[in-house]
Amino acid sequence: MAEKLFNIVIAGGGSTYTPGIVKMMLEHQEDFPLNSVTLYDNDGERQAVIGEALEILMKEEAPQIHFSYTTDPKEAFTGKDFCMAHIRVGKYAMRQLDERIPLKYGVVGQETCGPGGIAYGMRSITGMLEIIDYMVKYSPECWMLNYSNPAAIVAEACRVLRPDARVINICDMPVGTRRRMAYIVGKDYEDLDVRYFGLNHFGWWTSVKDKTTGEDYMPKLLEYVSENGYLTQKAIETQHMDESWQATHKKAKDLLALDPRFLPNTYLKYYLYPDYVVEHSDPNHTRADEVIEGREKEVFGAAREIIRKGTATGGEFTVDNHASFIVSLARAIAYNTHEIMLCIVENKGAISNFDSDAMVEVPCVVGNNGPEAMCQGEIPTFERGMMQEQLAVEKLVVEAYVEHSYLKLWQALTLSKTVPSAGVAKQILDDLIEANKEYWPELK
Ligand code: NAD
Ligand code: LMR
Repeated sequence: MAEKLFNIVIAGGGSTYTPGIVKMMLEHQEDFPLNSVTLYDNDGERQAVIGEALEILMKEEAPQIHFSYTTDPKEAFTGKDFCMAHIRVGKYAMRQLDERIPLKYGVVGQETCGPGGIAYGMRSITGMLEIIDYMVKYSPECWMLNYSNPAAIVAEACRVLRPDARVINICDMPVGTRRRMAYIVGKDYEDLDVRYFGLNHFGWWTSVKDKTTGEDYMPKLLEYVSENGYLTQKAIETQHMDESWQATHKKAKDLLALDPRFLPNTYLKYYLYPDYVVEHSDPNHTRADEVIEGREKEVFGAAREIIRKGTATGGEFTVDNHASFIVSLARAIAYNTHEIMLCIVENKGAISNFDSDAMVEVPCVVGNNGPEAMCQGEIPTFERGMMQEQLAVEKLVVEAYVEHSYLKLWQALTLSKTVPSAGVAKQILDDLIEANKEYWPELK
């Protein structure tokens, strides 16, 4: 039988992550061979820059793969095996407001955590439902591997609103941290076997061992992180990490102090040290500005350079190594590899003392039926208490979206650990409603 060649659509084709993912897929032609790659975006102008540059690159590096880019959903989603989705509804202009509005009131302003994440979630649900429905209509067998943020709220919305759709929600943050752990213990990413529990951007590693020898790396990692966080010299040198991210990785040492048994996800800093985060934020220059001046400028600059020269042989686009996770996930489904990966799935007892209908992030065995959660057992009171509160926030956001409820969204903001009072929550909410008029359902 001829070898199966896969057909991929990338939703959010104009994303800064698209070139890195396409480059990385080209590196995997031996173990994940492609027939076609189609980019889809609802902003044709933005996507055309990336699309035109990638067309040049694909002709040079992989002429056997059919490549195209389109804003037509039917063309994009017909005959596809996998949809890799990374859309940003409202783009960086709205991210800026998500970050700046809460900061005006002395509250954390962040892409996925706190009020900013709630605002982004209310926008993302609409965009996600749109692309899920296109996929189901034009390629009912297709799987969506989604890393559009905020993944926790998006995953809960999928559970409630599209329970039968083949959507797997994933995050690259635990992948990045596992890479850092591997540096710290002098191993490779693939050598580690990890156990983890939590919600997305809100979890803890309970075990890190050597996959082959079973050696327990937790003592060494706990000692290192308690002094340096996850920051390593190698990461600074080889990844040209932005300063704000260096600070985040370092801060993990103060997160670990709260429970010295488990290795924390770096996003917990927004919930455990919101005052510190606000003190170190500039309300007039947030992470969105950093990304606009950094990653977006670099990626779009590289694309324009390829178009100007008519060739991509100068190495303008680079491979996104984090994204190899996406290929492993697609391979696990396509070839039933049963690889263990962290996915955001319905709990159903995986964390035995936590809500069964919570969307949790845990290790899953992935095969051609999708991810199956591995049991993580009971979790301690401190972590469970934090997760319970955050889960309520995420569920209330989705309920507010479905019911168009002002009250539920106000409750969600009030419950967020990043917000000091119901009064402040209301002020922020009213500003966010004004800013998101074009995107949110009208709240009553
Ligand atoms: P970006 O703004 O560069 O690209 C997003 C693209 O999505 C834009 O071109 C935009 O036009 C498009 N888009 C918006 N709404 C759409 C819709 N309804 N249909 C089709 N296309 C639509 O953003 P980016 O910084 O590259 O990030 C992309 C996404 O990936 C974000 O959601 C970001 O949070 C997420 N992300 C996730 C992870 C993770 O591991 N979970 C890591 C990094 C980024
Ligand atoms: C991004 O835009 O890169 C985010 O998804 C994460 C970050 O760096 O803030």
